Amino acid sequence: MLKAVVIGGSNGIGYAISKNLINKGYWVDILDRNIPEENLFPEGSFSYEYFDLLNMDEDLLRSFAEDPEITVLMITAGYGRIADFEYFHTAEIKNMMTVNATATLQILRVFYDRIRKNEPFYCGVMGSIAGLMSSPSAALYAASKAAICRFIESVNIELEVGGTRNRILNVSPATFKGSRFYGGQNQLDLLKELADEIVKHLFSADSLFIPQYEETFKAVLERYHNDPHEYGLHSYQYKKASGRLDNNRRVRIGYLSGTFDLFHVGHLNLLRRAKQQCDYLIVGVHDSGKWKGKETFIPLEERKQIVAACKYVDKVVDSCREDSDAWDIWHYDRLFVGSDYQGTERFNRYEEYFKDKGVEIIYFPYTQGTSSSQIRKTILMKTDDVK
Ligand SMILES: NC(=O)c1ccc[n+]([C@@H]2O[C@H](COP(=O)([O-])OP(=O)(O)OC[C@H]3O[C@@H](n4cnc5c(N)ncnc54)[C@H](OP(=O)(O)O)[C@@H]3O)[C@@H](O)[C@H]2O)c1
Repeated sequence: MLKAVVIGGSNGIGYAISKNLINKGYWVDILDRNIPEENLFPEGSFSYEYFDLLNMDEDLLRSFAEDPEITVLMITAGYGRIADFEYFHTAEIKNMMTVNATATLQILRVFYDRIRKNEPFYCGVMGSIAGLMSSPSAALYAASKAAICRFIESVNIELEVGGTRNRILNVSPATFKGSRFYGGQNQLDLLKELADEIVKHLFSADSLFIPQYEETFKAVLERYHNDPHEYGLHSYQYKKASGRLDNNRRVRIGYLSGTFDLFHVGHLNLLRRAKQQCDYLIVGVHDSGKWKGKETFIPLEERKQIVAACKYVDKVVDSCREDSDAWDIWHYDRLFVGSDYQGTERFNRYEEYFKDKGVEIIYFPYTQGTSSSQIRKTILMKTDDVK
């Protein structure tokens, strides 16, 4: 059976490329964060696997890379926004570089043993024209796409010298319509022609495809290379005039506070679930040295180090007396707390306080696992035994 993997295939150009491959008789494995909308693909022509480039399942990827029937890999997952650099939170910088560059390179590495073999393997990545020249007011996006463009240009030489005819195709278009990139809807009629061209270049084992190159972008790139500074100034003014600037904060900051004494799997589950619902998780650790009126087992500094070492946590701080005071400092969008706090006087007060601040309080049911109080009891019993 002919099989292809499209990462980002639920929407936009990834969807149109998947559709093209299905029409050519391929079974398409779509890896994306969201399942494709109903009726986009004919039944029995594709499979879907949840896949997030911010938290990649490398084993899943490896299982596809090892499937000899798969001979096509197209990576279209990616995003960006037009905004001056001061409007990006550090978390958004990390996320955009991860999705558009680091994770994309990691995926290519997992498939690289297939790519560098002599058997045909067709592989392509969506870059962007922004990766081939300066792009003021999209500096972060340009940096992430430049990484991918330079990588592909370089590694294709390694492939050539290594003797395989396979290449990685860099597809670097300017703005196109019919995708969800700028908040629109999937429109196959607007994407079909571009997808058809991309697939043609993919199966020709080309290394670079810039749509509308001869008509438009050859001259644009020449202008840029002749005078990058002048070009940059012009591009800046053009973007400002286009009305596409999006200076809103795009990351969701989450906050939760706790004592985290005797760190256990319940704590871990809480942190993981919180991070699944925000882009940047701040954890306030209680300073008191007391836990429900009792001494903590672990000193504050050590508890902070343990929490900070958890991969779901982006920042550890000393908690404030009230979580609402912590909002004055961190301006978080979501406050996470165990569901048994719902309806308490304190959280009713918070609900009232956050009403006009756009903060959502998320109550989590406590998950399975040994609790701190059970661990405390066991330790205290054992200490008594020793005495
Ligand atoms: N549209 C343009 O004008 C344009 C121009 C040049 C280059 N490009 C590039 O072309 C590619 C495709 O863009 P498009 O216009 O087709 O956009 P799109 O309609 O938004 O499709 C992108 C797909 O990638 C997925 N994705 C984003 N982040 C992900 C993550 N962390 N893990 C897994 N999947 C993720 C999106 O899922 P969600 O919907 O869940 O976010 C979406 O399904 C991007 O790399 C983009 O940079 C686009």
